[in-house]
Amino acid sequence: MTAPTIHLTLVPGIALAEADGSLAVNGRRFDLPLTGLTPGSIAALRSLADGPVEEDALAAPVVAAEGLRGLMALERAKFQLHELGLVRRTALHDGVPLATLHPMTPGPAFVSGAVVPGRLYALSRFAWLRRGEGGLELECPLSTARLLCHDGRVAALAAALAVPRSVEEAASLAGLPDAVAAALIDMFLHVRAAAAVGNDTSAESDLAHPLAGWEFHDLLFHARSRQGRHDAPYGATFPMKGRVPPPPLSAPRRWAHDIPLHMPDLDALRARDLPFAEVVERRRSVRRYAEAPVTVAQLGEFLYRTARVKHVLSTPPGEMELSLRPYPGGGAIHELEIYAVVGGCAGLERGLYHYDPVGHRLGLVVPENGQTAELLEIGWRTADRQSRPQVFFVITARFRRLQWKYQSVVYAVIMKNVGVLYEAMYLTATAMGLAPCSLGGGVVDPFCRAVGLDPFEEAPVGEFMLGSTERAA
Ligand SMILES: Cc1cc2nc3c(=O)[nH]c(=O)nc-3n(C[C@H](O)[C@H](O)[C@H](O)COP(=O)(O)O)c2cc1C
Repeated sequence: MTAPTIHLTLVPGIALAEADGSLAVNGRRFDLPLTGLTPGSIAALRSLADGPVEEDALAAPVVAAEGLRGLMALERAKFQLHELGLVRRTALHDGVPLATLHPMTPGPAFVSGAVVPGRLYALSRFAWLRRGEGGLELECPLSTARLLCHDGRVAALAAALAVPRSVEEAASLAGLPDAVAAALIDMFLHVRAAAAVGNDTSAESDLAHPLAGWEFHDLLFHARSRQGRHDAPYGATFPMKGRVPPPPLSAPRRWAHDIPLHMPDLDALRARDLPFAEVVERRRSVRRYAEAPVTVAQLGEFLYRTARVKHVLSTPPGEMELSLRPYPGGGAIHELEIYAVVGGCAGLERGLYHYDPVGHRLGLVVPENGQTAELLEIGWRTADRQSRPQVFFVITARFRRLQWKYQSVVYAVIMKNVGVLYEAMYLTATAMGLAPCSLGGGVVDPFCRAVGLDPFEEAPVGEFMLGSTERAA
């Protein structure tokens, strides 16, 4: 049995400072004194701060000089550093670094020797392997640590666990000694990229398990768009500021002729609109329409009351252009664009239109054709196959508007913005006596092809149906 050598280092950005015979951790966000140390344990911990130290070599001089008291002080401090997520462990075999356990945040301390010979282990269905900043990285959103894989045999070991296997079988497939494979699988267990069969993997068959309903992409999105379980930059970090100009307030114009829209008289609306309490109480999703379709005047009023630009905020050149609209938007950035696929609207030809919220006008982007018919068909099916769509709004996001300012939260913020736009549309339609219904899913490529969008630049993120009722206001 050739167990791997373990090297310990502090995670980048962490220092240990000695003062008054004690040690303090100088972290990125905090300074923390380590208490109860002995001179020997302080010397050992200082060597840890100076660079990789062999784990087994760390304790020996402390034990020799101070015996059990020194060893306990050292182990306590090591445990604290591990739990705070400040120590990296690298496994080496024959002097070759294989993998490094990198804690992203404070979390459970690493436990070695967890792997049991003969027992079966398998990769978690939530694990992923990808090229990250540190090279090949093995991660799982269930954990707050990641494994940096320096050697192809670690990837081979992960591949071997695509089906349940014993350590010995997996070791032989990866070309590693059993003890080295066992130490690496210990690390897989710590990052929860693998589990003993019958533990986490049982989530797939046991529907009572809280993980049973989670899909890979949802769990990853949830873990990475909230704070506290990863070390990625979070929030308004302005990652592109000074490198590329922010995309402008208005999307590119994709039409030849403007179609000015009706602007309602807001004072008249204030006088005769349904009371707010009544609007909120009446709001329902309505999928059956009156025979006569909505009119272009109603469409104009609806868009004016939900989505027009009321005010462009003043920002210096080179900064993001911001605006205020009837519905709120994260950072006042308003990355959402509204397109209307018109299947029936009195006064407007059928086709696909883009709404310009600054000029409060429409532009015909795609005249009625097979592509617009396909989009209307998809919308009709999603809205429970009831009345044929009159106005099918497709809401897109111009992703870079948010990516320029935010990290980790971009897609989550877009979903929230879609939600508030939905509610603004619901309430306005209700006040106008129209039939609203939001949709929970839709397509990307047929829409982007029809409009000529690069789907990674701008793509649909929401859909909303609007139709007529017998009691239009
Ligand atoms: C995010 C979201 C997604 C929805 N998706 C659909 C959908 O795909 N198809 C549909 O017919 N209704 C959809 N609806 C409407 C809901 O079915 C409806 O709100 C729910 O049944 C409650 O009825 P109410 O809106 O009349 O109160 C959605 C609503 C929301 C808020």
